[in-house]
Amino acid sequence: MNIVLFGPPGAGKGTQAIKLSGHYNIPHISTGDILRANVRDGTELGREAKVFMDVGKLVPDEVLIGIIKSRLLGPDCSPGFLLDGYPRTIPQADALTGILEEIGKPLDVVLNIDVPDEKLVTRLSGRRMCQCGASFHVEFNSPKQDGICDACGGELYQRDDDKEEAIIQRLEVYSTQTQPLIDYYGKIGIMVTIDGIGDIDDIFADICKALE
Ligand code: AP5
Ligand code: MG
Ligand code: ZN
Repeated sequence: MNIVLFGPPGAGKGTQAIKLSGHYNIPHISTGDILRANVRDGTELGREAKVFMDVGKLVPDEVLIGIIKSRLLGPDCSPGFLLDGYPRTIPQADALTGILEEIGKPLDVVLNIDVPDEKLVTRLSGRRMCQCGASFHVEFNSPKQDGICDACGGELYQRDDDKEEAIIQRLEVYSTQTQPLIDYYGKIGIMVTIDGIGDIDDIFADICKALE
């Protein structure tokens, strides 16, 4: 199954992606996680990306297209893949179509997790992340042990872009640069919208139902 998980910042893409990736046994490819790993490792890509990420702006398309192209060629993607956070612009979507045509793996579905803006700010400002990609929330999805990841035992941290100013910028960027993709994939007829409000497990069940 070749899936794109779509939705605004804080919609729950990462939260649902971890569950889906385990359930369907396909790799979870989060461009945000890849970029953050590069920032942590101090790579040239990480240094370049951090400038954009910290203020809630998109990293340039050509950088992302390069990342996604090499990642999709990985042997672990042969049974399928789950993209989280890519594509985010029309040029990124066009590039993805080209790459997938080249490797003969068309997209099956774009899952749009729908959550209104007013909920997103609360979700993002209370989020705690782990380096393994798992995300928690101080109120809505707290870890069993304070500050420790349930999945890997790692120490939780707050993302640099989960501060109010950056959150506002990310929501703005989403509405101007990313939201047009709803039309783009809607026209092709492969977009399914999921209500992203409610219990995390119930939303996961809705997604699985939509995929079947
Ligand atoms: P990225 O890491 O992709 O961030 P994002 O799109 O802003 O999305 P988030 O990760 O913030 O939200 P999410 O939907 O994964 O929500 P989560 O599951 O964590 O990108 C970061 C930056 O990298 C970008 O700003 C950009 O600079 C750069 N970048 C990445 N990809 C790029 C690209 N393609 N092009 C250019 N630049 C790119 O959940 C959020 C919170 O809500 C958590 O606390 C969670 O516990 C909680 N929660 C989840 N579900 C529920 C629920 N049902 N009810 C209550 N709380 C919930
Ligand atoms: Mg995420
Ligand atoms: Zn972890």
